[in-house]
Amino acid sequence: MATELERIIKLTRGVPPDEALPCELVGECCAQALADHGEVLLQYNPATGFAPLRELLAEQAGAPSDALLLGNGSIQLLFFLARVALSEGETVVTERPTYDRALTAFRTLRLNVVGVPMEDDGLNVDALEEAINRHRPRLLYTVPDFQNPTGITASTAKREAVVELAQRHDVLIVEDIPYRLLRYKGTDVPSYRELTPRHTMQLSSFSKLLAPGLRVGWALGDPALVARMAKVAEDAYITPGLLGQGVVYEFLRRGHLEPNLRTLKALYTPRLEALLRGLERELPEGTWAHPQGGFFVGLSLPPGADVRDVARVARESYGLVVSDSGGFFPDGDPSRFVRLPFCALDENEIGQAVARLAWAVDDSRKGGR
Ligand SMILES: Cc1ncc(COP(=O)(O)O)c(C=O)c1O
Repeated sequence: MATELERIIKLTRGVPPDEALPCELVGECCAQALADHGEVLLQYNPATGFAPLRELLAEQAGAPSDALLLGNGSIQLLFFLARVALSEGETVVTERPTYDRALTAFRTLRLNVVGVPMEDDGLNVDALEEAINRHRPRLLYTVPDFQNPTGITASTAKREAVVELAQRHDVLIVEDIPYRLLRYKGTDVPSYRELTPRHTMQLSSFSKLLAPGLRVGWALGDPALVARMAKVAEDAYITPGLLGQGVVYEFLRRGHLEPNLRTLKALYTPRLEALLRGLERELPEGTWAHPQGGFFVGLSLPPGADVRDVARVARESYGLVVSDSGGFFPDGDPSRFVRLPFCALDENEIGQAVARLAWAVDDSRKGGR
């Protein structure tokens, strides 16, 4: 046991494992993209991105290409969107908890961020309505599929209720869906864009579907808003990283995405199952989401445990590093919440990690070590 514990386990980052990165195929696609489009990919270009990829993604979404903006990952596109759609001091509503980097983006722009609690099937709609009436937000930021950090997917009924509120109060729904295609079981729920295209800006990314280092994300919505985002993008970097976009284009053109998704699902499904089994076994007094895809399971610690103390004991006594839960909370109390990312660890490490977490919870509830 002592030697096992000497190995530190990081239960912190929602990144793909190295073995999920298709280096060889990316190399081939890169060579082909350069052979076919080298002078474009290596040159300054419009800030909207590599035109063939823009057109392909827009066509797949059934949208005109001017509704789609390619950028260096979706988080920066969220930043551009918030910059053009909102002024300092205006309100954004988010889920609570939510994606920590989205909160950082909103705070950097000095926006007022109001959290609405998550339930097992998505936002608490009554609390959302109350927040809308009280704070008159312009924008709702949501990760409706396999949410980061809880793993929760919003039900169709919840989405319809949110759409009704957004339409009635003229709130822009920003749906951030980088995990949507990583469904390991069950069936898709309609996206917000499908339910209310006029009130939705959709963000997504190839970071979890192919490779984060390529830095290719996109935004899809009202062309007028997309044009304003593109202007901010141009002022920020002139042209996004086109080579990555050329690689993604070639990867899609060759039909590699579907097999890659199958490989990722085969890799991640047993990891999710190992985590859920570990929680049943080790932390039966906790409660957690039961995601059918994505990268994360959100855990509510058993009563009497505080995540700050649990994280300290886990690190100091058991060599387990867990995330700072405060980062996921726009407001409210993070003390019972732990985000458990499961894709970057193998089944054995996941079993170990949950056991160590349970020991830390036990110690912490008994008054610490
Ligand atoms: C909900 C969500 N949005 C956006 C991102 C970042 O995506 P990108 O790498 O495209 O910037 C992540 C990454 O973890 C995420 O979880």
